[in-house]
Amino acid sequence: MREKLEQIRAKAMEAMEGLHDLTQLEEFRVKTLGKKGELTLVLREMGSLPAEERPVMGQLANEIRSTLERELSRKTAELKEAELEKRLESETIDVTIPGKRPALGGLHPLTIVLNELEEIFLGMGFDVAEGPEVEYDLYNFEYLNIPQNHPARDVQDTFYINDNILLRTHTSPVQIRTMLKQKPPVKIICPGRVYRSDAVDATHSPIFHQIEGLVVDKNITMGDLKGVLDVFAKQVFGSETRTRFRPHHFPFTEPSAEVDVSCAICHGEGCRVCSHTGWIEILGAGMVHPKVLRYCGIDPEVYSGFAFGMGLDRITNLKYGIDDIRLLFENDIRFLKQF
Ligand code: PHE
Repeated sequence: MREKLEQIRAKAMEAMEGLHDLTQLEEFRVKTLGKKGELTLVLREMGSLPAEERPVMGQLANEIRSTLERELSRKTAELKEAELEKRLESETIDVTIPGKRPALGGLHPLTIVLNELEEIFLGMGFDVAEGPEVEYDLYNFEYLNIPQNHPARDVQDTFYINDNILLRTHTSPVQIRTMLKQKPPVKIICPGRVYRSDAVDATHSPIFHQIEGLVVDKNITMGDLKGVLDVFAKQVFGSETRTRFRPHHFPFTEPSAEVDVSCAICHGEGCRVCSHTGWIEILGAGMVHPKVLRYCGIDPEVYSGFAFGMGLDRITNLKYGIDDIRLLFENDIRFLKQF
């Protein structure tokens, strides 16, 4: 038995030298010192020894066990240390490597101009009102004095969802919604996305953006409309800018006008941007039709109002000299980066 024990010790000490990771070490511990390990198996044979040899062998076995355990824990500590060393080395941060700049997003040109226009109108006491893009025919057309079969419906080629529901073709229904729930004075602008089934080209897109305005109160006149739009035009296009009203027709306003601003590029001389007229059309406007007020429960004998509507995309393009509306929707990063 002494021989067997000494052999186990010698073999184990030698085997341990060749172990280089913690799992191998654990396997070795189980194999040698575990419940079914070599040392335990030898000790099972103790019973067959003469009584006087047992304590001697027991002592030797214990000594071997504690030597091996000591050696094992030394080795474990050593391997752990080495592993930590290795990890630290691989995780070392080289502070001399040049940094990577995180890509910063920016505002879309439409958002920049929308924010600017909202600021201007907020400064004149307007509130911002919003409404759904999926709208009732009733609010998009009927209450705006555009009944079924009215030719104005053809001008606004409409995406219908069913007979009564459509994608709004302008933000005027937001004005209707506001008047239905709020009695005058009303002073709002309605920015938002609108839809018309137009073929795509440099100046048309089936999705575009409008800002419409509405003021309803006692004694509101065309003079108020002209004043507001003049201030607006000067703030957007520069203090030299002049405005011009041309007679026009909209079913929901009477009288109606189209409004031009003097060309900010050539200052009225005539250039390519203004088609050599010196003027650029930017919006439609007029005095709210009495029928529209009445539909919304507002007495046109007591109250009057004006409304206007403009294309945000067009104003953005004018401001930045962009010649194709499609650029606003393609989200090409090389284009967007310039703003
Ligand atoms: N709703 C009109 C359009 O989309 C614009 C407009 C608004 C004209 C208010 C006059 C008054 O074409």
